[in-house]
Amino acid sequence: MPDIPEIPSEISELGARVSAVLAQVESAESSDELTAILSAATGKTGPITVARKAMSQVDPTHRKSVGMRVQDAKTTIETAVEARRVGLGAAERTARVQAERMDLTEVVGTPTAGHIHPLTQAWEDLEDAFIGMGFTVAEGPHVETDWYNFDALNIPKGHPARDGFDSLYVNNGEEGSTVLRTHTSPVQIRTMQAQEPPIYIIAPGRVFRRDTADATHLPVFHQIEGLVIDKGIGLAHLAGTIEKFTQAFFGEEFHSRLRPNYFPFTEPSAEFDIQRPDGSWLELGGSGVVHPNVLRAGGIDPEEWSGFAFGFGIDRFLQIKHGVTDLREAFTNDIRFLEQF
Ligand code: DAH
Repeated sequence: MPDIPEIPSEISELGARVSAVLAQVESAESSDELTAILSAATGKTGPITVARKAMSQVDPTHRKSVGMRVQDAKTTIETAVEARRVGLGAAERTARVQAERMDLTEVVGTPTAGHIHPLTQAWEDLEDAFIGMGFTVAEGPHVETDWYNFDALNIPKGHPARDGFDSLYVNNGEEGSTVLRTHTSPVQIRTMQAQEPPIYIIAPGRVFRRDTADATHLPVFHQIEGLVIDKGIGLAHLAGTIEKFTQAFFGEEFHSRLRPNYFPFTEPSAEFDIQRPDGSWLELGGSGVVHPNVLRAGGIDPEEWSGFAFGFGIDRFLQIKHGVTDLREAFTNDIRFLEQF
């Protein structure tokens, strides 16, 4: 009887070992786990490698077919790992999408309709009051030339009033030639250039100054400008218009007064205050009879036409009207604050 060499266990048990690996592959839960299974199966002490090493003990006539079986075993494991990896990728993606999914039907609390911002409300109420008095609304750009913001308003270069404005300059053209408008007054000039008198306009809008924000100041705030140009207009018309506005906006029990002051763009100039029903006075803004130089800058002949102008802050209105102690709160967009108005 010829001596039949024993088949080494590394080879005879290869089929069972591969099946065990395939079972692990099937139950693997992540791509990392699959990588570990594959390197264990094909590594130094894994079933594939040990079977290959054992081939030296196999009868040379059978080596070729045994070698093919070992190679097939390796391919089987690799194919199963790849298939499982693809399946897991899809499952992982599905899980991630599921986890990140937003429930758009979810409602937190009771949904409420929004409302316009209290500043916009004040802005629109002011517009309404002046429109009711026959004014129209004018606009101008936020980024201005220093000519419109200063020179044309009788504030030439070197004038001390320029320093008082704490301007924010824009890096454009010659240094100091472009500025974020520090007040709404340049709209006076733009309007005079754009339309023939008589002019009755208001110009509400955003203005900018190099101010550190505190309870009553913000570097970005809002003003409303007024300009009237007509024949024979003087201080009495200004006083009458301010009084009429005060009563229309605040109520019949409110009154106004003018107090002498100085502004480069008006002569004479006045601060205007309003009196509350309790008798207390509140400083509101600046005003005056338009300076002849300003009329000329706007292309209007001061011999033929005259006018008055005024300007005041809108944010302050909001503060007074609603008793807002810290103005910064009005612009952080915290719904708990805004909901109160
Ligand atoms: N532009 C001034 C400022 O920002 C306010 C002002 C004062 C406007 C007098 C006017 C005016 O039109 O006549 O402080």
